[in-house]
Amino acid sequence: MFKAIIHGCLLFHCSVDVDNFGRKRKWFHNRRVKAFSSPVWLLCSGKHPTTERRRVLVTGAAGFIGFHVAKSLSQLGDFVVGIDNFNDYYDRNLKRLRAQVLLHQFGISLQDLDITDQEALEHLIREYQFTHILHLAAQAGVQYSLVNPLSYTSSNVQGFVSLLEALKNSCLSMNLDFPVIVYASSSSVYGKNKKVPFSESDSVTMPANIYAVTKISNELVAQVYHNLYGFKLTGLRYFTVYGAWGRPDMSYYLFAEAIYEQRELFLYQTEQPVLSIYPGTVMEPCRDFTHITDIIKGTIAALYKGYDCEVINLGNCYPQRISYMVQCLEELLGKKAIIRYRPLPMGDVPCTYADISKAKNLLDFEPQVNLEQGLKDFSEWFIRWKEWKVDHASAI
Ligand SMILES: NC(=O)c1ccc[n+]([C@@H]2O[C@H](COP(=O)([O-])OP(=O)(O)OC[C@H]3O[C@@H](n4cnc5c(N)ncnc54)[C@H](O)[C@@H]3O)[C@@H](O)[C@H]2O)c1
Repeated sequence: MFKAIIHGCLLFHCSVDVDNFGRKRKWFHNRRVKAFSSPVWLLCSGKHPTTERRRVLVTGAAGFIGFHVAKSLSQLGDFVVGIDNFNDYYDRNLKRLRAQVLLHQFGISLQDLDITDQEALEHLIREYQFTHILHLAAQAGVQYSLVNPLSYTSSNVQGFVSLLEALKNSCLSMNLDFPVIVYASSSSVYGKNKKVPFSESDSVTMPANIYAVTKISNELVAQVYHNLYGFKLTGLRYFTVYGAWGRPDMSYYLFAEAIYEQRELFLYQTEQPVLSIYPGTVMEPCRDFTHITDIIKGTIAALYKGYDCEVINLGNCYPQRISYMVQCLEELLGKKAIIRYRPLPMGDVPCTYADISKAKNLLDFEPQVNLEQGLKDFSEWFIRWKEWKVDHASAI
C-alpha cells in the first residue's frame, strides 16, 4: 500500500498553474512576533520557519480544495501544516495519495485530526502559533445530507465552533494575536433563490438542504466571533469547484466515471424553466462550474488580505447546462454517454450563478479557466488516476 502510494506521488504531477500573483510577499499584519522554540517546527518541514513566513493551518488538507491550496501556499513560501480526519465519505486512497504528495513533494505534514476534538486543536495551535487559518474541513455534498444529516451538523457546525474556541483559548492563554481566518462557505446558501446572479446582498433564508443550513450557520457563527472577540473571518461561497484531483462524489466526476466505464448516467430535468444565460427555455439544471486554478487564487487572495468579516462569492459567473458538461466529457474521453433522464431530486437546486463583483473588488478575482479547458485538465488527470488504480488494485 505504502509503496503504491509513493509511486503514485511520482506519477501524478498536478498541472495547476500557480502564479505568484505578481506581488512581492510581505508581512501583512503589524503583529507581535513570538519566539519559536518548539522542536516540532523542525520535524514538519524541510525549511525552518522564520518570523517572516506565514504559518498556515489548512483544515481538510487531504480534501480536493485543501490539497491544492496547501500546495500553492507552500510554493509561495508559507509554512503549512494540514489536518484531516480522512473519513470514508469517498475513496480514502485518493485522500491518502493527496497527503503523500503534500508530504513528499512539498514537505507539508498532514495530521490525522478531527476538528471536533477541541483539545487536540488547542495543542496544535499552541505548538505552531499559526498566523493564518484556512478552514476547509467539512462534510461536503448535497445529496448525502439527506441521508446522514448529523455528520453535517457535527463536522460543519460543531467542528467550526470547536476550531474557533480552540483558537480563542490558545491565543488568549499565550497572549498571541488571533490569526486571520478564511473558511469555506458555499453557493448552496442561496438555496431556492430565484434571482440571478446570486449576490452576497441576497437573502439566504431559503436553504434547500441541511448542508446549506450548516454553511449559513458558519457565516452567522463567524459574525458572532468577529463581534465578540474581534476575529478576522472571511467566508468564501464556492461555486461547483472542479478539476484534477477532484471529488468523486461530484457530478462531473461521476459522469466521467460512467462514460469511461460505459455505464448509464442520469441527467436531471426541471419542471420549471431555469433562469440562465442562454436564450430560449432551459429545462435542466445549470451550474456555475469554477475551475480549481481560479479557486486557489481567490482563496489565497482572501487569506493574504485578511478582511475583518466578509462573505464573498467565488464563482465563474458563467453557468453552464449540465448536459453540455457531459458533451464535453464525451469528447475528451472519446466515448458516448449512455444517458437516462430523471426529475431533479429533492434537496437539489435548478441553477447556481455567481455575481463576482465583490470578489473582483476585494480580491482582484478574475476567473481565467473556461469549462472546456477545465474539463480537459480534469479528464487528463482522471484517466491517469483510473489507470493507476487498475495497476495498483492489489496494493490498495
Ligand atoms: N468542491 C466544491 O465544489 C465546493 C463547493 C462549495 C463549498 N465547498 C466547501 O469547500 C470545502 C472543501 O471542499 P472539498 O471539495 O475540498 O471537499 P473534500 O470532501 O474533498 O474535503 C474536505 C476534507 O475535510 C475532511 N473532513 C471532513 N470532516 C472532518 C472533520 N470532522 N475533521 C477533520 N477533517 C474533516 C475530509 O476528510 C476531507 O478530506 C468544504 O468545506 C466544502 O463544503 C466545496
